Order: sequence, then structure tokens, then C-alpha cells
Amino acid sequence: MKMIVPSILSADFTRLGDELRAVESAGADWIHVDVMDGHFVPNLTMGPMTVQAVRRVTALPIDVHLMIENPDRFIEEFAAAGATHISVHAESAVHLNRSLQLVRSCGAHPGIALGPAAPLSLLEWSLDYADFVLLLAVNPGFGGQEFQPPVLNKIRALRLELARRGLSTIVESDGGINEQTIGQFAAAGVDAFVIGSALFGTTDYPAAFTRLRREMERGILSAGAR
Ligand code: DX5
Ligand code: ZN
Repeated sequence: MKMIVPSILSADFTRLGDELRAVESAGADWIHVDVMDGHFVPNLTMGPMTVQAVRRVTALPIDVHLMIENPDRFIEEFAAAGATHISVHAESAVHLNRSLQLVRSCGAHPGIALGPAAPLSLLEWSLDYADFVLLLAVNPGFGGQEFQPPVLNKIRALRLELARRGLSTIVESDGGINEQTIGQFAAAGVDAFVIGSALFGTTDYPAAFTRLRREMERGILSAGAR
């Protein structure tokens, strides 16, 4: 199943509850929460309090993307706040497998995130511990950037590696996904599409979902035809 995952980084925070209800009724599959600490990335955003607030409004899975140093310090708090999926950057985890095991022991699904310049080889000894991999298509820190095309080859290579290992790990991609680009991500083999500005920057969310899903299906069909 292909999933659309709104990133609330681009939502109107004065009306976060309404925004969440609107994307849920438009067909959101998960809600993506970008956690930034001003150290690992040059921006500050949300913490466990925000996840608690999101949890009060929606029953959808909450996908917490930790862009922070020392992620182990906060994993339990995010899980307790209601996160169902927690991804940790391989570049920031000192002992990645320990971080993934900690996420699982807290009852959430562990994911490995990789920045656009981080090689797939960082997954080699950790892939079997993860339920999903998040391949970031932009330099982490901000919404509204253009995606970096080399990520498409990385997505294809990850799909091959998962098939080789016989794993059904979810492939998520994040950054620069919009109506013009979603087809390329879909053709490369993405399962979960994180979308921030291309959704919250519109006024009619159901219409945006329809267009995004149509372009996604087109991408999948074009890949099948090749
Ligand atoms: C980037 C974040 C993304 C961001 C994507 O650091 O991880 O989740 O919200 O935003 P768009 O879809 O606008 O590129
Ligand atoms: Zn993100």
C-alpha cells in the first residue's frame, strides 16, 4: 500500500487541530513530525509536547523524524507522547542498532533515516533491525526545498538490497515531493511519501490528495512499462 504522509512542519500552527482533521479526512495515512534541535540541523522545531497534542486530535500513526544529536536521550519521551514510528539518523546515532532496539522496546516501529549525502552502506549492519527506512531527498532542516535527484538512485538501490535480503521494510522518502516530482519517487519504489509544503501550501486538501495520488499512480505505471 502506498501512503501519503503529511509533514506538519508546513501546517498553520495557530490552527494545528483543524489542519490535522482536514488532512486526515482528505486521506492522510500517517502524520509526520519533524523534530530539530538546532545542532544536528540548523533549525529548531517541535518536541514531545507537540506529539502529545497531535495524539489528542488524531488516531493516525504518528511518524516522528528525529533530526537531533543524541537521539537515545528522547526516544522514550516521544514514544510515551504517542509516536508510533520513530526514525533516527544513521549520521547522528553513535550506536545505531541500540537506538533502533530502544525504539522497539518502547513499543514503536524503528526507522533509519539517511540524509542525502549519507551512503546506503550505513545501513549494512542495521537494516534488519528497522521496520522502515527514510531517505531524505533534501538537506534536513527546512520545508519547501527542491529534491536532490541522486536520491532516486539511492531509492532504487535500497529496493534491490531489500529484495536481496527478503525484507518487507517500508521505504519512505521526504523532501521536495510534490505533484511534479511524486511520480519519479513512486517509479523508483517509494512506499510512504512525506509531503509538507506541497500539501499545506494549497487550500483544497482533498483536491491536492487526488492530484498527488494520480501522479503517483502514473509514476508506478510508467516504471512498470519500462
Ligand atoms: C525536511 C523535513 C521534511 C519537510 C519536507 O528537513 O524532514 O519532512 O517537512 O517538506 P517539503 O515537503 O516542503 O519538502
Ligand atoms: Zn521529515
